[in-house]
Amino acid sequence: MLVLGLETSCDETGVALYDSERGLLADALFSQIDLHRVFGGVVPELASRDHVKRMLPLIRQVLEEAGCVATEIDAIAYTAGPGLVGALLVGASCAQALAFAWDIPAIGVHHMEGHLLAPMLEENPPEFPFVALLVSGGHTQLVRVDGIGQYELLGESLDDAAGEAFDKTAKLIGLNYPGGPEIARLAEQGVPGRFVFPRPMTDRPGLEFSFSGLKTFALNTWQQCKNAGDDSEQTRCDLSLAFQQAVVETLTIKCKRALKQTGLKRLVIAGGVSANKALRASLEDMLGSIKGNVYYARPQFCTDNGAMIAYAGCQRLLAGQHQDLAISVQARWPMEQLPPL
Ligand code: KG4
Ligand code: ZN
Repeated sequence: MLVLGLETSCDETGVALYDSERGLLADALFSQIDLHRVFGGVVPELASRDHVKRMLPLIRQVLEEAGCVATEIDAIAYTAGPGLVGALLVGASCAQALAFAWDIPAIGVHHMEGHLLAPMLEENPPEFPFVALLVSGGHTQLVRVDGIGQYELLGESLDDAAGEAFDKTAKLIGLNYPGGPEIARLAEQGVPGRFVFPRPMTDRPGLEFSFSGLKTFALNTWQQCKNAGDDSEQTRCDLSLAFQQAVVETLTIKCKRALKQTGLKRLVIAGGVSANKALRASLEDMLGSIKGNVYYARPQFCTDNGAMIAYAGCQRLLAGQHQDLAISVQARWPMEQLPPL
C-alpha cells in the first residue's frame, strides 16, 4: 500500500511517500523557522498561510523523488491533531480534497502517535511492549505502549513541556527560536559546575514532570549575572549547559522509574527533544546499567515530518481503518482515546 503523508500541525510542512512493502520512498520538508524567528515563536496565522503555499509543490516533489505518479497512491494520511487548528485545517482539507478527487481513502493521524512510531522507520525497530518518552514542544509524557493504539499514560508535565522549557529559556537569555537546538549548541562550550539548576519533582515519588520553574531559575540567574556586569557569550554557554543537564537528568530519573514500575527494559524516545545528543547519551547510559535498550529516530524524524504520519497512517489503513470525508481536526486530543488496531 502506497501512502501519502501530510504533516501541518505547527511550523513545518512535511510530505512523504511510504510504501508498506518498499518502506519510505521519499520525504520532503519545508521549515517555517525563518518566517517565525523575528517574532520569537510561531505565529499561527502566518503558519497556516505558508502551509497553503508549500503543500502542492512538496507533494509534486516527493512524487518526482519517488519516481511515482499520483494514480499509484492508495491512500492519504494527514495530521488531524493535536496542534494549531488553522495549520491542521490546511493539511486536512488538502488531504480530503485529493482523496475525493483520486477516489482513495484518507485517514486522520494523531501527531503524537506519529512521533511515537517514528523509530519504527529505523533499522532496528523496537518490539512491543515498551515505555515511550514523548518530548516535544507541546508534550512531555511517559506512556506504556503495548501495541499501536494501546497506550497507558504513566505521567506527564503539569506545566511546560520539555521543548517549551528549552524554547522559553533560550528566549530569556537572548537566543533564537527554536531554542532547543540553540541551547544544545551553546551547551557544548559550557563550563560544567558553574551553575547548578534544580531537578524538579525528582525528590518525591511519581512520574509527573514540572519544567516551568527551570525557566524562572534561568531568568533569575541571568539577571544576577547581568547585574554584576556579565552578559558574556560564555555565561550564556554555561547557563545553557546547566539548564540542559537539569532537563536531561530529570527526564532520565523519571524514565528509569517508569521502566522499574512497568518491569520493561525497552525505552523509545520521540519528539523534537529526542534529537538532543546529551539526552540520548544519558538514556543510553541508564539503559546500559539495567541491560535494556533505547530506541530513537534519526534527527530529522525526531522533529515534525511527513514520514512519521505516512507510516502511522499506513498501519491503521492496513488494519482497515479510515475516515469519512468530513474535514475535522482537534487542537487537543488525548492519545489514549485512539482505538487499538
Ligand atoms: O516534535 P517537534 O518538532 O514539534 C512539536 O510537536 O512540538 O518538537 C519541537 C521542539 C522545540 O521545542 C525544539 O526546541 C525542540 O523540540 N528541539 C530540541 C532539539 N531539537 C528540537 N530540544 C533540545 N535539543 C534539541 N537538539
Ligand atoms: Zn511534533
